[in-house]
Amino acid sequence: MSETRPDPLPRIVSGMRPTGPLHLGHWEGVLKNWIGLQKDHDCYFFVADWHALTTHYEDPRALTSNTFGLAMEWLAVGVDPDRATLFVQSWVPEHAELHLLLSMVTPLSWLERVPTYKEQQQELRDRELDTYGFLGYPVLMSADVLLYRARGVPVGQDQVAHLEVAREVARRFNFLYGRGEPFEACLQSAHRQLGSTDRQRLAEWARQYRQSGSPELWSRIEDMLAGDARLGSGERDALIAEARGTGRTILVEPSALLTRASRLPGTDGRKMSKSYDNAIALRDTREVVTRKIRTMATDPARVKRSDPGEPDRCPVWSYHEAFSTEVTRQWAGTGCRTAEIGCLDCKNRLLEGMWAALEPVWERLGKLESRPEAVREVLAAGSERARREARITLDEVRDALRLARPQ
Ligand code: TRP
Ligand code: SF4
Repeated sequence: MSETRPDPLPRIVSGMRPTGPLHLGHWEGVLKNWIGLQKDHDCYFFVADWHALTTHYEDPRALTSNTFGLAMEWLAVGVDPDRATLFVQSWVPEHAELHLLLSMVTPLSWLERVPTYKEQQQELRDRELDTYGFLGYPVLMSADVLLYRARGVPVGQDQVAHLEVAREVARRFNFLYGRGEPFEACLQSAHRQLGSTDRQRLAEWARQYRQSGSPELWSRIEDMLAGDARLGSGERDALIAEARGTGRTILVEPSALLTRASRLPGTDGRKMSKSYDNAIALRDTREVVTRKIRTMATDPARVKRSDPGEPDRCPVWSYHEAFSTEVTRQWAGTGCRTAEIGCLDCKNRLLEGMWAALEPVWERLGKLESRPEAVREVLAAGSERARREARITLDEVRDALRLARPQ
């Protein structure tokens, strides 16, 4: 439970849309990264079912089963509900409330210029994506991360522009609402503590920093304030906000933690993707995996069995790097370059390594599928925990917006 662990590293939030079975690329790239992060960070991982509706609203029939299916896949590969908070976005209605409130301050132009907006509309031509919800995709995503005051958000390259919107929204919100009382009082007392010489020095550095954006100047400002024993932490924060040109931090600006791309290509050698029809799903059966690997593209220079090959030009090799032992890799690398082994020999040995990795996952998936209620309970408990955390931010946001309280 997160409450009883010692101080974890900065909080992490990430989500995945439940749009169908995961493939090995998701496991290798995204999930192994999550599993590493959950060891020492306070992690919130959620099924972004509302985000799935932004593109799949016309036919939501599979949404429930995809939601549970995705959670089962996470659990089967080792995402651990005792370490990370696992939940369903739509079970935490605070995401919707914050989304609504953030939509009040988000300029339309920020959303229209997100590159994925026009691109996806082009790419998914068979869907009608001229909707309010689809345009607001990055606002909902901003709510997802700002609600938990996440410092780090592991995402792929395709999501970086969305996260940039989240940062801008947070900054704008703090600028608009973070400057009344008690911020001003705190700032004034901080100015008194500093005295006029230091105050002027700080103001001058801050002015230069806002003009140049120089990180070197920024660390000078931070060093000056961090080392000043006259200041309380509220006063220090107020001075920092003033120097940045923002208000008090009501919403924390998150950073993207770029997930490195999976090294596993698709069966045709291109990037693995469901839409290219070249993916190996985590749930593919042994027969299907065998067929996909046996028919997988290899080094194009190896036309005949007697032609030597070059593993670096072969997509199968990336799989050896992910699944085979050192001994197998030696054998395959040498055998390929000398033409001592054929591609089928090479692939059969690879399959042995893949079974060793996949069988335990399949076994856990089977168990989870026979106990769907247990999975629902994990998600329900995680959603409760997430709600408690979310309320803290949301109460501050409501107060900042001067929304009346019922009691
Ligand atoms: N948009 C993300 C994707 O398609 C999923 C997502 C939704 C997300 N909300 C998020 C990721 C918040 C990180 C943080 O991959
Ligand atoms: Fe690829 Fe293995 Fe064939 Fe070499 S022997 S080309 S590594 S499949």
